[in-house]
Parts: sequence; structure tokens; C-alpha cells
Amino acid sequence: MTKLSVNINKVATLRNARGGNVPDVLKVAQDCENFGADGITVHPRPDERHIRRSDVYALRPLLRTEFNIEGYPSREFIDLVLQVKPHQVTLVPDSPTQLTSNAGWDTKAHFTFLSEVLDAFNNAGIRTSVFVSTDAEMIEYAAKAGADRVELYTEPYASAYAGNREAAVAPFVEAGKVARNLGLGLNAGHDLNLENLNYFYQNIPWLDEVSIGHALICDALYLGLERTIQEYKNCLR
Ligand code: PXP
Repeated sequence: MTKLSVNINKVATLRNARGGNVPDVLKVAQDCENFGADGITVHPRPDERHIRRSDVYALRPLLRTEFNIEGYPSREFIDLVLQVKPHQVTLVPDSPTQLTSNAGWDTKAHFTFLSEVLDAFNNAGIRTSVFVSTDAEMIEYAAKAGADRVELYTEPYASAYAGNREAAVAPFVEAGKVARNLGLGLNAGHDLNLENLNYFYQNIPWLDEVSIGHALICDALYLGLERTIQEYKNCLR
């Protein structure tokens, strides 16, 4: 079964726009679980412009499904994750001011750094995932560095989908096979939506998890959160 982890950063962005507690990020996360989400993802950034550190602490005891914290492994981020002990941590190479993740790690260039960070999380019993492109060498170095999983950066798939979906998915199928042969679990995320998700899943059915935020929260404006989550789940069958 491919799990759907709902990234709730956009909900926090909406809350922060007014300074109060509407919408209530903690309630939305719990509702996502009640509506069928298999996990919740948050991406706390140093400027707390969407998810705040306090949200991360508050979510931990409330969630019943898998909690995934993604982010750049600064000292502060590492300490936060080690304190909160989520089910999974996903390492992304974002700079603090970046609008959104827009590339995978160069796992070869950052091999020593990633190995040390992954060691700390592995020793704490937290499953680790490293955000990468479809480049086989990047996946191999993620495995060597000690990752349990890789998360494939799917923006290139999403942007090429409308033009030629067979060509768009082909490098992801190959990358998925590389990961599988190395014994790595496989996650995917970025710009997945109701149009392109099912085709991705059909071609890579051994996918462990997709993490989806922007499109899902936007769809919920029209369809409501419950129906939206059901529709995304249907894409994974
Ligand atoms: N995976 C990672 C590593 C991300 O940084 C993001 C965006 O925060 C996502 C998945 C979800 O992407 P989207 O919001 O486009 O669904």
C-alpha cells in the first residue's frame, strides 16, 4: 500500500496570515487523519513562516498516523527532530529563504555531512529519507550514507506530464528500480496532484509514500478536505 502523507504547511500559512489560530493547524491535522490520511508532513523553516516549532511539538502527541518532519538539517532542525522523535525525517537541501524545495541533494558532494546527520537519526530510531533527483548516483550515495529511504523530487515529472506522460515517468521508474535494488524504501513528492498521481503510482506501485501539500489543500477549497483526501487515496489504488 502506498501511503498518503498530507503536508499541512499551507494550512499554517493561511493561519499565519491573520495572526490568530484560524484555521487550527492541529485540528486540521487530526481531521486529515480521520478522513483517511496515512500520515502528516510538516516542514518547519527557520523563519517559521508557515509551520512553527511550537506546532511540531504540539502535533507529536496528537497524531495517530505517521509523522514526517522534513527540512534542512541545521543544528536547530536536528535538535528539534531528536526531541520530537517523529516516525520519519526527510532531509532536504533547502536554503533558509527558499520559497519551496526545488532540487534534490547532491549526495556525493555532501556525503560526509549527510552520513553524520543520518547516523544521529538512525541511532535515535527515526526512519530517514533523503530528497533526491532521479540520478542513480545520487540514490547510490544516499544509500551509502545510511538513508532508509529516498524521496524522489517529482516536479520534473509533474511539469512534463501534460506533454508526454510516458517520457515523464520513465526516469522515475528507473530511479525507483535503483532504489529498490539497493534495499531503499521509496517516497515521492512535489507537485503531485489529482491529475498526475494515479499514473505515477501505476508505473511505480512499490512506492511506499507520497507527500502532498499544495495541490491537495487547493483542491480542498473546491471539494472539501474529506472528499479531497478520499480522491487522493483513490489515486493510490
Ligand atoms: N516533499 C518535499 C521534500 C517538499 O519540500 C514538499 C514541499 O514542501 C513536498 C514534498 C510537497 O510538495 P507539494 O506542496 O508541491 O505537494
